[in-house]
Amino acid sequence: MYMNETISTILKRRSIRAYKPDRVDDESLELVLEAGRYAPSAMNQQPWHFTVVRDPALLEKLETSCKTVFLESDVEALREIARRDDFSVFYRAPALIIVTGDSTALAPRYDCTLAMQNMMLAAASLGIGSCWMHSIMMLHSTEKGKEVFKELGISFPEKHVPYAAAVFGYSAMPLPEPEPRKPGTVTIIDQDRADSHSA
Ligand SMILES: Cc1cc2nc3c(=O)[nH]c(=O)nc-3n(C[C@H](O)[C@H](O)[C@H](O)COP(=O)(O)O)c2cc1C
Repeated sequence: MYMNETISTILKRRSIRAYKPDRVDDESLELVLEAGRYAPSAMNQQPWHFTVVRDPALLEKLETSCKTVFLESDVEALREIARRDDFSVFYRAPALIIVTGDSTALAPRYDCTLAMQNMMLAAASLGIGSCWMHSIMMLHSTEKGKEVFKELGISFPEKHVPYAAAVFGYSAMPLPEPEPRKPGTVTIIDQDRADSHSA
């Protein structure tokens, strides 16, 4: 009864891991970025910057560097994934958005993550798939990785670091079913309701 389009989009959004090569249309991309810029931020500092990479050759170079970082990771699971022949960090998506934040702001990690969630939901509402790309943050956290961004000509504003990154594009896979939600993750404390409960 209370379902609406916004909640329906939130429930239906899934991480998409296979993309058509088609470019995201410019108008939709603008709307997605606008949704990001309207996220809440600590003390309304809006400490973010949105870098959009739509150049396939550049995306391929960045992907190769991410793969190298995975292969050199301390985490065996990441090394194992990266060794697979069909491993593709960006899933051949045509666009990558990196949200960097001013590291001296009050809460840039939260601000940038909220901006990214706004963008993922806006994208889903427009029929555009997305998937968070943690490898970007991992790449930038190493000295070698920082050099890679410079070498590729991807520069960020002063004092900015990437806090959120995701690929965007038109899905080339059926919409996955969501994993079941974990039970016991909600506690409601409500003096007006005798049936206060945990779900
Ligand atoms: C902090 C964070 C890091 C993630 N990193 C990756 C990633 O590097 N590659 C990837 O394919 N998915 C990544 N994901 C997506 C999650 O795997 C995905 O959200 C989760 O499995 C739930 O699936 P859903 O998004 O379809 O609901 C990440 C998600 C979060 C929140």
